[in-house]
Amino acid sequence: MKKKIIVIHGPNLNLLGTRETEIYGNNSLTELNAMLLSDAIAKEIELEIFQCNSEGEIIDLLHKHSDITGIIINPAAYTHYSIAIMDAIKSIKTPVVEVHLSNIHNREDFRSNSVTARACLGQITGFGSFSYILALDVLVK
Ligand code: DQA
Repeated sequence: MKKKIIVIHGPNLNLLGTRETEIYGNNSLTELNAMLLSDAIAKEIELEIFQCNSEGEIIDLLHKHSDITGIIINPAAYTHYSIAIMDAIKSIKTPVVEVHLSNIHNREDFRSNSVTARACLGQITGFGSFSYILALDVLVK
């Protein structure tokens, strides 16, 4: 059966390309998604991509995809304080990989703490859009 993976982009990531470009780069979310979709075709993965600005929407998506090959999540600011998203990740069978575009460990102190990563298989941070590609590699293998 074909592997199924979903990507969840958290709040404010819809503004990629215009938002703090010195940190997040000039590529838009549409460009990032196009790159992921073509990588998924090459890796023979069925890939679906979502972007949510609210916590509840993210939790609903996690519940809905509780038994698939994998989930790649960039919880954005929720990373640092959402116990509800951490609990949702813990509640499902699907392995979840947390990704960040920027290196959350070399920015403000509050960003180096990830509540959500406690529930994940692992965290890939600081490689821009390549963080997502690495996560796809991990989940496929
Ligand atoms: C981010 C890092 C978070 O600290 C921040 O709130 C984001 C983006 C990243 O991808 O580098 O919105 O998750």
